[in-house]
Amino acid sequence: MADQYARTGEDRCPSGIPVLRWEELPGGPALVLLDQTRLPAEEAELVCPDPSALVEAVRSLAVRGAPLLGIAGAYGVALAAARGFAVEEAAAELAGARPTAVNLAVGVRRAHTAYRDALAESGDPGRAAAAALTAARALHREDAEASARMAGHGLALLDELLPGGGHRILTHCNTGALVSGGEGTAFAVALAAHRAGRLRRLWVDETRPLLQGARLTAYEASRHDMAYTLLTDNAAGSLFAAGAVDAVLIGADRVAADGSVANKVGSYPLAVLARYHHVPFIVVAPVTTVDPGTPDGGSIEVEQRPGCEVTEVTSPWVRKTGAGGGIPVAPLGAQAYNPAFDVTPPELVTAIVTEEGAVSPVTAEALVELCARSRQV
Ligand code: MRU
Repeated sequence: MADQYARTGEDRCPSGIPVLRWEELPGGPALVLLDQTRLPAEEAELVCPDPSALVEAVRSLAVRGAPLLGIAGAYGVALAAARGFAVEEAAAELAGARPTAVNLAVGVRRAHTAYRDALAESGDPGRAAAAALTAARALHREDAEASARMAGHGLALLDELLPGGGHRILTHCNTGALVSGGEGTAFAVALAAHRAGRLRRLWVDETRPLLQGARLTAYEASRHDMAYTLLTDNAAGSLFAAGAVDAVLIGADRVAADGSVANKVGSYPLAVLARYHHVPFIVVAPVTTVDPGTPDGGSIEVEQRPGCEVTEVTSPWVRKTGAGGGIPVAPLGAQAYNPAFDVTPPELVTAIVTEEGAVSPVTAEALVELCARSRQV
């Protein structure tokens, strides 16, 4: 269990929010995470000195969001190698820690492949560990670059779809610097609009049950002085009906080959609302989130989380009293349905914006072409 906390410093990542870093400690290297379960009440660091601490951090959502899970997974392999753990086992455990965000397995595979190749070539575990760390650092850097490019493509698309500026954007979950090596996916587009003076309002869904919108997106938006308003997820319908949403921007945990999009539960209802109200529904995700190996939406494994996340409310501010560690909001023993994600079919998605550009309409052919383009770069 990773339970070593330290107060956070100020300066660790390009966005100003320290999210994840590799640190050489006296006892060996460690992965140091900004513990997202404790935000926004507290900016605390969680030190993971071994792969199982990192697996626990992934499962508890101390580190979360598809691109960051990929980066963390890659560093996790490097950590296992550098600390002399069984790398094959660590890689398998890390890749399986959460099932829906494909980036996690992709990141683990990238560092693991680098490790195996270097070991086969040199026979030297030290060199192999260094190769895994180099691969993790490269993924980290590339993800930061992808963020910046997605922001540019996304803002261009918004301006094209919504001439006149003054965009009112609804977003769900958290897709900013807390999920990325850079400024994020969907949030990075909203931030680019804000910097360009074209964001009129960022509507932030609170995102039940774990409140990634209220705790994390509002935290990021306030740090950037963005004009944002928080709403309960079930208030979105009346917001659309009032004509107050110009576009929906969300991220993705996995895009299947047919263009189906798995994202935080509550995304699909927004897509249905957006279609009914003739509002663009835009998904922003790096190419690493597109999974040609998953044929369609029905093939995406949706993570089911414990019912206590629904029957109890947890928050970094409240005293914990329930069986799951939170405040009970349902009768003892109530059953709960708690999928972490839902799947939006491609016909409800106006565009998928990646670092390689936007795909619209979203078709299997267009995604094949996009992935091929990305491999050529
Ligand atoms: O369960 P989480 O908090 O890891 O879910 C995160 C999301 O659903 C994000 O919207 C998604 O990863 C896209 S962020 C690029």
